[in-house]
Amino acid sequence: MPSDAQLSSTFYDDTCPYALSTIGASIMGAVLIDPRMAASLIRLHFHDCFVQGCDASILLEDESGERTAEQNANSVRGFAVVEAAKQAVEAICPGVVSCADVLAVAARDATVAAGGPTWTVKLGRRDSPAAATRELAENDLPRDSDPLPTLISKFAKKNLNEREMVALSGARTIGQARCVMFRDRIYNSQNIDPNFATMRRSNCPQTGGDDNLAPLDEVTPTVFDNNYFRNLQNGRGLLESDSVLLSEGSTDRITVEYLNHPDTFNSDFASAMIEKNGRYRTFNWWSWVS
Ligand code: HEM
Repeated sequence: MPSDAQLSSTFYDDTCPYALSTIGASIMGAVLIDPRMAASLIRLHFHDCFVQGCDASILLEDESGERTAEQNANSVRGFAVVEAAKQAVEAICPGVVSCADVLAVAARDATVAAGGPTWTVKLGRRDSPAAATRELAENDLPRDSDPLPTLISKFAKKNLNEREMVALSGARTIGQARCVMFRDRIYNSQNIDPNFATMRRSNCPQTGGDDNLAPLDEVTPTVFDNNYFRNLQNGRGLLESDSVLLSEGSTDRITVEYLNHPDTFNSDFASAMIEKNGRYRTFNWWSWVS
């Protein structure tokens, strides 16, 4: 039976005191080599947590598992980086630190590496022995085409309120998206800066080029700042799910607050990233990703 295990920031203090610094060094190195990796690790952790809890199940390969979900396939990345961090930890304390904890710490360290806020990661997650199903992932993960009320209810299902949803979406101040995800918006949306749409069309044709990338924040694409919210105000949010956050709905005032108060954004983002006990389902069995 699943249980809401107590997480603790001191979980590895006796069994693997250098776990966090080892993961940190590994992630810093990876982000130096590939600055986009910071964004990819934050998203990988988010997509893990949103489906069946933060249990590293997204790391498991399964031909009908969550990695094959439409929202993940050919989209989430960072697996090799998490694996390398896990191996670095295994080298100093074999069989002690869970993959789910490595991924949670990696997301925090990635945020810091990109210039964002830090927070204390609570530890002691258990790894799932199996990937979640593709169906569950497709049902639970938000889609770019979801209207605002659907996004709000998907986050509410994970005990995250509107304010937390907007704060977490601010992570898209870094990273990239594929043409296939924003084509419809740059060719058909009325709610977009026309100059921005024209610029993005140059690398995202109406047919073909599905995997061509564009930065989610063209101004500071690798810096974790609050420019995401400025883009929303200027009609320069790349994704439909960006623009709905400022579209005469209940989240408008939160985006404006985060635009005007970067410190509030940073601290709300950090709080929303902290897994509260009982907030996500954890497991009371222990297994390892080989
Ligand atoms: C509100 C619902 C959300 C929707 C519909 C959504 C959708 C998307 C989509 C479609 C992409 C581009 C994927 C691709 O082109 O392959 C993306 C990228 C990204 N998302 Fe979200 N997202 C949401 C919330 C979040 C949250 C809560 C976070 C962080 C906690 C997040 C962090 C990111 C990051 C950092 C990227 C760039 C990843 C990279 O460059 O590898 N998103 N998202």
